[in-house]
Amino acid sequence: MCGIIGVVALPGKTPYKPSEMGYRGLLRLEYRGYDSAGGASIDPFRRRIIVAKGKGKIAELERKLGLSKLPGYTLIYHTRWATHGRPSDENAHPHLDCRGEIAVVHNGIIQNYRILKEELLRKGHVFSSETDTEVIAHLIEEKYRVYRDFYRAFKEAVMEIEGSYALAVITLHEPDKIFFAKKDSPLIIGVGDGYNFVASDIPAILEYTRKAIIVHDNELGYITPSSIYLEELGRGSIDWSRRVRIIEWSIEDASKGGYPHYMLKEIHEQPRAIRDTLYGLMNEPVVVEAAKLLLDARRIYTTAAGTSYHAGLYYSLATAQLAKQPVYSFIASEYPSIADSVGEDDVLVAISQSGETIDVLMAVRAFRERGGRVIAVSNIVDSAIPRESDLAIYMRAGPEIGVAATKTFTAQTTVLAWLAIAHGEEAGVLDRSEAGELRDWLAKAPQLVAESIAANESLAIKLAEWIAGKHSMYYLSRWIGVPVAMEGALKLKEIAYIHAESYPAGESKHGPIALVENMFPVLFVIPGVDWVEKLLLGNIQEMRARGAYIIGVAAEDTGLADQLDLWFRVPCGHWILTPLTHTPPLQLLAYYTAIRRGYDPDKPRNLAKTVTVE
Ligand code: G6P
Repeated sequence: MCGIIGVVALPGKTPYKPSEMGYRGLLRLEYRGYDSAGGASIDPFRRRIIVAKGKGKIAELERKLGLSKLPGYTLIYHTRWATHGRPSDENAHPHLDCRGEIAVVHNGIIQNYRILKEELLRKGHVFSSETDTEVIAHLIEEKYRVYRDFYRAFKEAVMEIEGSYALAVITLHEPDKIFFAKKDSPLIIGVGDGYNFVASDIPAILEYTRKAIIVHDNELGYITPSSIYLEELGRGSIDWSRRVRIIEWSIEDASKGGYPHYMLKEIHEQPRAIRDTLYGLMNEPVVVEAAKLLLDARRIYTTAAGTSYHAGLYYSLATAQLAKQPVYSFIASEYPSIADSVGEDDVLVAISQSGETIDVLMAVRAFRERGGRVIAVSNIVDSAIPRESDLAIYMRAGPEIGVAATKTFTAQTTVLAWLAIAHGEEAGVLDRSEAGELRDWLAKAPQLVAESIAANESLAIKLAEWIAGKHSMYYLSRWIGVPVAMEGALKLKEIAYIHAESYPAGESKHGPIALVENMFPVLFVIPGVDWVEKLLLGNIQEMRARGAYIIGVAAEDTGLADQLDLWFRVPCGHWILTPLTHTPPLQLLAYYTAIRRGYDPDKPRNLAKTVTVE
């Protein structure tokens, strides 16, 4: 996820040179993950904006470009985690307007950037990157031509952009100010003495001040070395003095945003990750191209490993339902067993959050060598798998640091649901309004996922105390709930080291039920679908008859409420949202069980985040 730090200072008032403060803050943002970095400052003597930026590690860029040696007292810095446009020197932030008088850094996704860019191109603006961010610099430039008042121009531009953003902007027109705005991406103000900051999060400023103001959505303003102006769009200025918080965390705690582990932070980040992913998908022509490719396919396959494999299973079920097309799903390491049957006109959907998992990469290569086409779904722009594929669709979950995937699973299923809908529409199975209705459900997902997390955390803590003492557990479901059950079982195994098995509930009688005895925990993922509930009723009863303790993940309106010993209540939705609404309680249960058993959930034993050996 991109990181921002901006500092504006009075000469002689700072403990280090302002550029060193900015640079050290930038290093504190490294944990968020990035592929490029840069900074811009207002040269106090020559009245121009100086930019130093490029692809690569911050330390390397420091050696090459001297990021910590930029002159002046008004500076903005950025770490970029590519979303629009590959990682490159040109796409690194800051971005300038045509005249080099405005520099912008941005975290988030500008949803309407294509429309804005076309308009600006028509007006003669010249762009030097593929990013959505550069549009903002030109848009402000355009507004400034009209209003000749920089803050007004900045505000007008902010009102025109749609999507998610945390912005920091410097300009020659007002050289001792940093302008900022926020919506759906984090931003704080650091309050110093003779200097002030804007930053993506607290670790970036903690070395210099413990006083911070959390900027809220739809707020904007500017900082000078000795003042802060904050206003809410449409409501006017805000008295921020009562919003100053004294931060007592250590720098290490702060990088986890106050959460004890990255995994818990990432579970809580899911609404944001899904929202950004949706913003990225809207108006994304590659989805339509992918849907066309799928429509013309002779056979469709999907492959992945670990959590991404569960996302693939979900994708195959959703596509069968929405596009009436069968999708053959296989575990990536098994690719040699299918490679020989692949031919031209076959399409593979290769899913990998890291984009680097070797087994998935080998499957992609095997497909392409045989003339098959590949659509990659990944979280990392320009990573190996998207690079070697015909088309790439990205989720925008931000970097995931916990080894066990959480937010990338829900972001991935969001992308795959979107793709299945586009495919269904292209195939004529869904008409426009049906497809629109399904997309409306997805648009509600960030809110519903937030509700699912909030409603179930304390219950997960309680249940974890009991599960922590168990040796084994089943996770069962049917149809669209099965991949979710599989993901829940994988999480418990991975981080709490408890044997957990998952299979379609109808299989119970064919073996697994032999293990069930008094107080054996069996968790049912219950999607809100009538025929599934009817069949699950029988499966629950057969488990109960053998003494199993029945845990359910089900919506408020489930018909199975009286069958459950313990109920994780999730918001009512549509079946398409099942992985989004039903997975968070399972992630929380695994997390708190690991904690209860004294394990570090961020670094499970024997596991790696990215597996690059076959
Ligand atoms: C490893 C990770 C899992 C992940 C799997 C696939 O096993 O520990 O969390 O699901 O790799 O990774 P990918 O990056 O290809 O999705």
